[in-house]
Amino acid sequence: MSKTFERNGSSKNVLKDIHLGIRKGEIHALIGESGSGKSTLAEIIAGLQEASEGKVVFLDDHQQMDVQMIFQNPDRSLNPKMKNVDIVTERLIIEKITKQARMNRAKELFALVNLPEDALDKYPNQLSGGQKQRVAIARALTVNPRLLIADEITSALDPITSLEVLKLLKGLASKYGYSVLYITHHIQSLKNFADCYSVIYQGGIIDSGPIEQLFISPKASYTKELMGAQLALAPKIRHK
Ligand SMILES: Nc1ncnc2c1ncn2[C@@H]1O[C@H](COP(=O)(O)OP(=O)(O)O)[C@@H](O)[C@H]1O
Ligand SMILES: [Mg+2]
Repeated sequence: MSKTFERNGSSKNVLKDIHLGIRKGEIHALIGESGSGKSTLAEIIAGLQEASEGKVVFLDDHQQMDVQMIFQNPDRSLNPKMKNVDIVTERLIIEKITKQARMNRAKELFALVNLPEDALDKYPNQLSGGQKQRVAIARALTVNPRLLIADEITSALDPITSLEVLKLLKGLASKYGYSVLYITHHIQSLKNFADCYSVIYQGGIIDSGPIEQLFISPKASYTKELMGAQLALAPKIRHK
């Protein structure tokens, strides 16, 4: 697929002839620097934006509604005026399910994402950053998705909390068999998490393969550069 934005008479080609396959149950990492087109691609797959050319094809009996997205900033993606219980079960209200059934489902979802039950009666702002992302994950799971797209969901979290959130996503994916498109620019976090990877650079996929390849012998010189830059940064962060 391709995507071009038209604005003020000029056009900007943001995604260029993208070919990306995500298999059932796979954790697929999408790696790329800021502005490379990751979020645009994610939103097209999730049906929040339209491709200019090409399309997303769902195999088996999958549909667009089977795709759920978790966003980078929970303060923007979670309504601060709604209690967590209503956030995670909002879609069930539309389906006219009883209040008691909704509460039971909310309790179930909170247990899945390791949130205390008393957080259901709280507002997002009363929770920590990591807990807020757990609420966002719980909300995505309400409708039993087949594909979960996580767009830099740990970028605002400290390393330990990030790791816990990744472990949770991986555990749930293997329990329920859904696929994950995990978007990040932090390569080291992928080591024990992702199954395969694709690197996006200026709107095109320039490298992809099984995750071991990324750490042993990445194909593209850009990928090596990206990894080198992160390794160079790592010690500085540790010694702070
Ligand atoms: N609605 C839009 N209109 C015009 N340009 C956009 C729009 N959304 C994103 N872009 C541009 O597309 C490019 C890719 O953005 P994005 O997909 O958000 O990248 P990433 O998530 O990798 O940081 C950027 O140059 C951005 O400015
Ligand atoms: Mg983005």
